[in-house]
Amino acid sequence: MERANAWVDSVNTVDRVRLEALTERERALYLERNPRSRALFESSVNLVAGVPMTWMSKWAGGFPLGFSRARGASLTDLDGHELVDFALGDTGAMAGHSPEALVAALAERVGSWGGVTTMLPTEDGQWVAGELTRRFALPRWSFTLSATDANRWVLRLARLATGRPRVMVFSYSYHGTVDETFVVLDGSGRARPRPGNVAPPVDPTTTTRVVEFNDLDALERELSSRDVAALLCEPALTNIGIVLPDDDYFRGVRAICDATGTLLILDETHTFSAGPGGATRRFDLRPDAVTIGKSLGGGVPCGAYGLSEELNDRVLAGVLEGADLDDVGGVGGTLAGNALSLTAMRAVLSQVLTDDAFAHMELLADVFAHDVRAAIANYELSWSVVQLGARCEYRYVAPAPRNGADSAAAADARLDEYLHLYGVNRGVVITPFHNMALMCPATTREDVRRHGEVFTAALGELLP
Ligand SMILES: Cc1ncc(COP(=O)(O)O)c(C=O)c1O
Repeated sequence: MERANAWVDSVNTVDRVRLEALTERERALYLERNPRSRALFESSVNLVAGVPMTWMSKWAGGFPLGFSRARGASLTDLDGHELVDFALGDTGAMAGHSPEALVAALAERVGSWGGVTTMLPTEDGQWVAGELTRRFALPRWSFTLSATDANRWVLRLARLATGRPRVMVFSYSYHGTVDETFVVLDGSGRARPRPGNVAPPVDPTTTTRVVEFNDLDALERELSSRDVAALLCEPALTNIGIVLPDDDYFRGVRAICDATGTLLILDETHTFSAGPGGATRRFDLRPDAVTIGKSLGGGVPCGAYGLSEELNDRVLAGVLEGADLDDVGGVGGTLAGNALSLTAMRAVLSQVLTDDAFAHMELLADVFAHDVRAAIANYELSWSVVQLGARCEYRYVAPAPRNGADSAAAADARLDEYLHLYGVNRGVVITPFHNMALMCPATTREDVRRHGEVFTAALGELLP
């Protein structure tokens, strides 16, 4: 009730007519500033939706910026504008764009030594697995080409290990294009396919149970059926704003999983921003498996999953009983674990996303969050800011939501469009999906200061 009132307050605070007029002005400015990006989009007639991947049409302004260069935390678009990049490829570039160590390692791998993919191991595989073991405290690792693949394959392995058919997710989570995960709770608490789910192969509620984040009673109730192989979840929701776990929530999750024989898989693809060992290390969590992708290879396609010794043993027992893990049994991919991806991951983990780099990134995220909070307080908005290590996000509601449904209810596409366009027109980019900003090792205080200025100016014009 309190939260609902806060939302009404913030809606009432923003003059919608003024918002629309300002957004119209920003759209016109965007159009005027970006003729080459627009021409690229309009001439891309052989691309579905006019872009290489359909999500790229999500940016505000009617067409995305084409980019020519990207280095560190900076992007140069086709019209020559240099932008501070807080979107960082929606985390794919959390290591920054083309860090020197990565460029050198890739040149050596592909140029000097040669060989991108051979279906043979290189020495980098064990190095990366050893480093991931050190960071995430899980002893067995395998590699994929994406976080989606890592999730899909671990779900297979979880079903193999437990002999159970179903999986569980949190409402409004996102784990890549994994069919079973597109389930949400509706207003009356019933599971249903997530709105917009593109032609699912089967109704995902037949494969999947769903509960709200931070609701231990519901989790216990749903898992008591003992037909769920694994709970696949992020340690904090990051794809519906950032929703942090309550204190001790994951202690309860672990206990319920143990009591019901359910495996706990933590998807650290985004929550890796919490520190060198992700949220697993930061919150001292004890998963049976971890999945990760995106940033590990500095943007070179890669992903990984780690297993506990016990889960690894159970998987191998399944192999002895006939599960085909080394050919066409449904886990694996020809290009996964290729030499290029492994070299990229080794370079990034050893020289770019280091402990020191995370300390720097988190400090800047503190400043970023401080600036946004100060502007929100100055204009007396009922908005909230949530930070997870190097990642920040603001939401048009206060206090910050505790679950996916509440966070989804606080979405405001109109405000997003205005704030995103206002930023891009003044050299600052945040993710096109909601309001996430991420720091990379190359992000500077000046970059963060610039965002603070632009954000404050955007609110100043909206709330004069
Ligand atoms: C938490 C999480 N897991 C997995 C994925 C899938 O990553 P990819 O699309 O690179 O496979 C995403 C993508 O946004 C994600 O946010």
